[in-house]
Amino acid sequence: MEDNKFETDAIRNQLERSQFQEHSTPMYVTSSFVFEDAEDMRASFTEEKERNIYSRFSNPNTSEFVSKVVQMEGAEDGYAFATGMAAIFSTFAALLNSGDHIVSASSVFGSTHTLFTKYFPKWNIETSYFDINHPDEIESLVQLSTKIIYAESPTNPGVDIIDLELLGTIAKKHGLLLIIDNCFATPYIQQPIKFGADLVLHSATKLMDGQGRVLGGVVVGRSDLVREIYLFSRNTGPALSPFNAWILSKSLETLAVRVEKHCENALKIAEYLEKHPKVSAIKYPFLTSHPQYNIAKKQMLLGGNIIAIEVHGGLIEGRKFLNAIRMCSLSANLGDTRTIVTHPASTTHSKLTPEEQLATGITPGLVRISVGLEHVNDIIKDLNQALNS
Ligand SMILES: Cc1ncc(COP(=O)(O)O)c(C=O)c1O
Repeated sequence: MEDNKFETDAIRNQLERSQFQEHSTPMYVTSSFVFEDAEDMRASFTEEKERNIYSRFSNPNTSEFVSKVVQMEGAEDGYAFATGMAAIFSTFAALLNSGDHIVSASSVFGSTHTLFTKYFPKWNIETSYFDINHPDEIESLVQLSTKIIYAESPTNPGVDIIDLELLGTIAKKHGLLLIIDNCFATPYIQQPIKFGADLVLHSATKLMDGQGRVLGGVVVGRSDLVREIYLFSRNTGPALSPFNAWILSKSLETLAVRVEKHCENALKIAEYLEKHPKVSAIKYPFLTSHPQYNIAKKQMLLGGNIIAIEVHGGLIEGRKFLNAIRMCSLSANLGDTRTIVTHPASTTHSKLTPEEQLATGITPGLVRISVGLEHVNDIIKDLNQALNS
């Protein structure tokens, strides 16, 4: 029989039951934990004992959430954060020194791009960008000071795909760390560690929560690297709250079924929109028209829930389309049960200059659709009436 451990582990990987024999993991909403005596306290702080001390360091609920993501991604260890951006910032801050250099895809999430271009140079950490559709440029950007290759796949919001196996090979050849933001795919669809990633990051706010309720972030991968990130975070304080960790761990129990349905809906909608006379361009990884369709098929189980479209008439018609939407939500989030329509140029990526937006794959008329779990016919009906309005 086929091994279907993903779903089972997501549900059965659970904290030990307390003396109350509860079926569902309780919430450990506590800032600190008590010690038996002075010796217990001393040994806990020197890490001779592995136990919870203070929820900025660890907490049973965050540990349960992290251990699920570790298992799903095939990682060694992990650490959870208050947001995806806290995960991204803390990972780089923990692993890099002044003078180090990053080689990143130019198409990355807006705040990540801002981190690289606006803040890291303050600490003498520079970033060189490669075009996601030209990974052949990467090796020419590598310097003696390069430490990390960074990419998202699929990208936000252009839904571009990069060959993770190729990135893994380049990183290995040059002795560099490969860090992948796997937020759009989720570990159900793609596990970058299999292709050579050293660390995998997530905004757990998206499909991991999946219901638009809480913010969260997580990094998993090599235990020696996670140890550095943990020590940095233990002292700087970007920890995930136990309440949010409890929500996220519960959400992971249904990740597989939710993602299956999100992707089924998204593929049907992408096929519909591809033929729609008002849509001038469309990108969805599992449409044969996607420029990296073959790579997507090689490394992804399903196409994800994000579709990027251009409406005929560019920005003006795109805005008309957004204003005519009735059921779907105009919101900046994605990966929710509710279908969300966003205009990245004026929202999530608005801090980028027009040139940076274009380099990130954002044209003025680009619309990002995060396909939800409403009935697919209702989503299509709303998109169609808005396109025809
Ligand atoms: C690909 C990607 N990475 C990181 C983030 C940041 O996550 P958060 O909003 O949880 O800080 C986002 C948010 O949209 C994202 O889409």
